[in-house]
Amino acid sequence: MTNLNYNIIVARSKNNIIGNQRKIPWHIKEDLQHFKKTTIDCPVIMGRKTWDSLCKKPLPNRLNIVLSKSYTNNGIMLDNKTFGFNDYLKANLFIKDLYEFFIYNLPIYVIGGEQIYNLYLPIVDNIILSAIPEDFEGDSYFKFDKDKFDLYSNVKKEGYNIEYWSRKILEK
Ligand SMILES: NC(=O)c1ccc[n+]([C@@H]2O[C@H](COP(=O)([O-])OP(=O)(O)OC[C@H]3O[C@@H](n4cnc5c(N)ncnc54)[C@H](OP(=O)(O)O)[C@@H]3O)[C@@H](O)[C@H]2O)c1
Repeated sequence: MTNLNYNIIVARSKNNIIGNQRKIPWHIKEDLQHFKKTTIDCPVIMGRKTWDSLCKKPLPNRLNIVLSKSYTNNGIMLDNKTFGFNDYLKANLFIKDLYEFFIYNLPIYVIGGEQIYNLYLPIVDNIILSAIPEDFEGDSYFKFDKDKFDLYSNVKKEGYNIEYWSRKILEK
């Protein structure tokens, strides 16, 4: 049976900011490369506002899933790599069916923004968090309960760290 592995990938400032006026308020080239390297070939799930904010869409070499309550149906094709859903459970089933059909064993990445991180937080297995050690002004946040996750790796990068959190077994 297919066991789906959901992961949040997020970059967050010291004061828990992830976005400001629909943009990420910093530009760290190394972190963009980390995002690309991590998510490449894997399905990515995002909210309609994050989708709208992408400079290049769809994200290439990834199955793009966009959530919006405005979509009149589930599984609508926005382009040949992107499917829109108004119900995230239907999106999850769609991915599960794909995995069972193609026998994929790839992680699934939840790539934001605030609303979609909160939607998936109760079911994700891992959080990959780029921790930017400064405060920023912003209007979108990401917070999670550290008692429910273990920090199993903390990789030092130039000017920031990438933290790898895994849900505690008892929480699964
Ligand atoms: N730092 C990072 O790693 C990072 C990553 C991604 C994004 N961001 C930032 O996050 C901010 C955007 O976050 P956000 O929370 O405003 O927007 P978002 O999560 O990207 O998208 C929100 C939209 O998703 C749809 N949606 C929400 N819940 C849904 C549900 N249960 N079912 C179906 N659709 C649902 C709605 O679309 P409709 O309104 O169309 O119904 C909603 O307006 C931006 O500033 C962006 O730059 C930061």
